[in-house]
Amino acid sequence: MVMAKGLIILGTRMLAEEMFDLISEIKDYEVAAFVENMDRSLVGTEIEGRPVVWIDDAVKYARTHAAICALSTTHRRKYVEQAEGLGLKLATVVHPLARVSSRATLAPGCFVSAMCIVSTKTKLGKSVFMNRAATVGHHTTIGDYCTIQPGATVAGAIQLGEDTYVGMRATVIERLKIGRGAVIAAGAEVAEDVPGRVVVMGVPAKVVKR
Ligand SMILES: CC(C)(COP(=O)(O)OP(=O)(O)OC[C@H]1O[C@@H](n2cnc3c(N)ncnc32)[C@H](O)[C@@H]1OP(=O)(O)O)[C@@H](O)C(=O)NCCC(=O)NCCS
Repeated sequence: MVMAKGLIILGTRMLAEEMFDLISEIKDYEVAAFVENMDRSLVGTEIEGRPVVWIDDAVKYARTHAAICALSTTHRRKYVEQAEGLGLKLATVVHPLARVSSRATLAPGCFVSAMCIVSTKTKLGKSVFMNRAATVGHHTTIGDYCTIQPGATVAGAIQLGEDTYVGMRATVIERLKIGRGAVIAAGAEVAEDVPGRVVVMGVPAKVVKR
């Protein structure tokens, strides 16, 4: 008999429930708890029959469980660093309906949802979140803590800087460089390099906020 791999989910909001649902379809994984770090009033409640525990108390899981973060915002970096500071290790979770090339590499903390594709020789940095049906082409580098929302298409040979957010159904064409912390609006079509820390929107995508 294969022992279940214990997980705890960092987060208690709707995305945490979605991750729980997806993880429940992965053989041998078992979620033990949801972890809160902002609202103490949630501690002692339950989600899906699992306890909500305060981050400091999640340390008791450190030796037996790995953590996965269910935040799709820029707060994910802070939460993951807080958890690691307490000695928690990160899990890498790939839904069985995703297709991830054996030549791709995924750093700890990545979550790849159902129907996603990660192509050959592509690297996902630490705690990258790929939401439903997002795809990333070949020879692309996705920086730490990037979020790629449902149905977004990141082409081949792209460099996506750390903390970048790609909105749902956005498209980034091949060989572009996207600067750290850029936000690509839902539905945008990015056809040229994007500097760091700007919001781009539209077809073709233009900077709308610096
Ligand atoms: C880019 C984004 C972050 C901007 O958010 P924001 O700064 O709060 O912007 P606002 O909602 O105030 O909208 C500002 C303007 O941009 C327009 N706008 C917002 N998002 C847009 C988009 N994706 N494409 C085109 N126009 C957009 C709004 O209609 C508004 O226009 P107006 O000034 O003429 O009224 C956000 O709209 C977005 O695209 N988020 C991604 C959502 C997503 O992928 N969610 C995944 C859920 S699973």
